Amino acid sequence: MKNLAAIVLAAGKGTRMKSRIPKVLHPIAGHAMLHYPIGVLKGLKAGKVVVVTGHGAEAVEKALSGFKGLTFVHQAEQKGTGHAVMCAARELKAHTGDVIILSGDVPLITPQTVKALLKVHRGKRGAPISFISAVLGDPSGYGRVVRDPDGKVTGIVEDKDCTAPQRKINEVNAGVYMVNASFLLKNINRISPKNAQKEYYLPDLVRMAVEQGGHVPALTHLDASEVMGINNRVELARANSIMRERVLRELMLSGVTIVDPGATYIDVGARIGVDTLIYPNVHINGGTTIGENCVIEEGARIEDSAIAGNTKVKSYSIIESTSVGKDVTIGPFARLRPGNVIGDRARIGNFVEVKKSIVGTGSKANHLSYLGDSEIGDNVNIGAGTITCNYDGVKKHRTVIEDNAFIGSDTQLVAPVRVGKNAYVGSGTTVTKDVPSWSLVITRANERVVEGWAKRKIKK
Ligand code: UD1
Ligand code: CA
Repeated sequence: MKNLAAIVLAAGKGTRMKSRIPKVLHPIAGHAMLHYPIGVLKGLKAGKVVVVTGHGAEAVEKALSGFKGLTFVHQAEQKGTGHAVMCAARELKAHTGDVIILSGDVPLITPQTVKALLKVHRGKRGAPISFISAVLGDPSGYGRVVRDPDGKVTGIVEDKDCTAPQRKINEVNAGVYMVNASFLLKNINRISPKNAQKEYYLPDLVRMAVEQGGHVPALTHLDASEVMGINNRVELARANSIMRERVLRELMLSGVTIVDPGATYIDVGARIGVDTLIYPNVHINGGTTIGENCVIEEGARIEDSAIAGNTKVKSYSIIESTSVGKDVTIGPFARLRPGNVIGDRARIGNFVEVKKSIVGTGSKANHLSYLGDSEIGDNVNIGAGTITCNYDGVKKHRTVIEDNAFIGSDTQLVAPVRVGKNAYVGSGTTVTKDVPSWSLVITRANERVVEGWAKRKIKK
């Protein structure tokens, strides 16, 4: 957007969170709270984006490393939101248009709302500053919007500075502002900390603009949840549930069936194809993509994975950083640890653990197995209880099983080892040497039957 720079306030400690992590890094639907306002600004194509960091600056900057072109400013001592903007202002000296100021702890704000504020601001020619307000049932904690008898905004008074009648005002400041750059640069250093908290209050700019004869428009937002500030973990939980509702709503409207939206947990950014059916208590995290017409049964957790169409993930399976092909069945109770590629039409059944393995097209490991560091060809059958012994106590080794091989139940494959194409491994075998294709390998003690033995034992 033209002539638009931005400041994001993210230096505060977030004392009320009672946490060792900076407040703005607490996650909402899979992303640090601070990602949301930055994402909104990126969506609006704001020019320069200045992020004010202070408390936990290093961690905060690291958490934003995925965003390009941010300018970080350090606020060593957190002397208030006005002081934070003073720190940022030195990066905006050359800027002539408007500056949008967002708080890192107001994550539910949408691009549409910020655009609406910009429209209000630019529509009122020469408005020095505009802001978003909301009418709340319980306004406690927020700055109150004070208006004159004609309804014109005259200032914002912080909760702790309110007179008794002011405390009853339920129109609050959302902490989202659009400021004319030259007004900002001229006035930001004039804010004084003479108030109950001895802090530099950014909202004082509103009173200053009015005193200088300016008109300050307030965009009163009807959806109060969108402008809620997150100060404690109760609000964090509420924000999570609102964000979750948004994610699920969008998915449902795009053709995904969610059986119980109250009990389905999908991160912002996950993509799911039409006609996929999601049962309750499913968690879909990170950058997961799921194709069309899949079924994800109850209790499954899928993280940073890609699942192609028509695949079924049965109950209580865990899939991490894995790529799964189409027409596959996983689970119930399967565990796919990071680094697998599961081919089309494969079957990974109950109590099967797979790690850093490639499983070819149509191959099956239906019961109770561990496949680690392995490369399994197409149409391989892995019998129940098969274990790749990939670790020798020092190092990990690979197991290779070529196309069409048959691995009998209760086999141990002591890696490094290779089973050739079409080979057979008899049940109960411990494979320690490579098996040539088309051969049978079997290590089994001879079976001995002693007739009547049990009867004789009982008599004794
Ligand atoms: C602020 C507003 C209040 C408004 C509310 C909306 C002020 C003085 N008050 O109050 O009118 O109703 O937001 O949510 O602005 N920050 C810094 N440096 C600092 C202090 C804060 O970067 O020195 C950052 C924080 O990390 C946070 C944001 O500014 O992201 C808001 O600070 P916070 O202390 O939460 O302000 P509130 O008391 O909620
Ligand atoms: Ca706040």
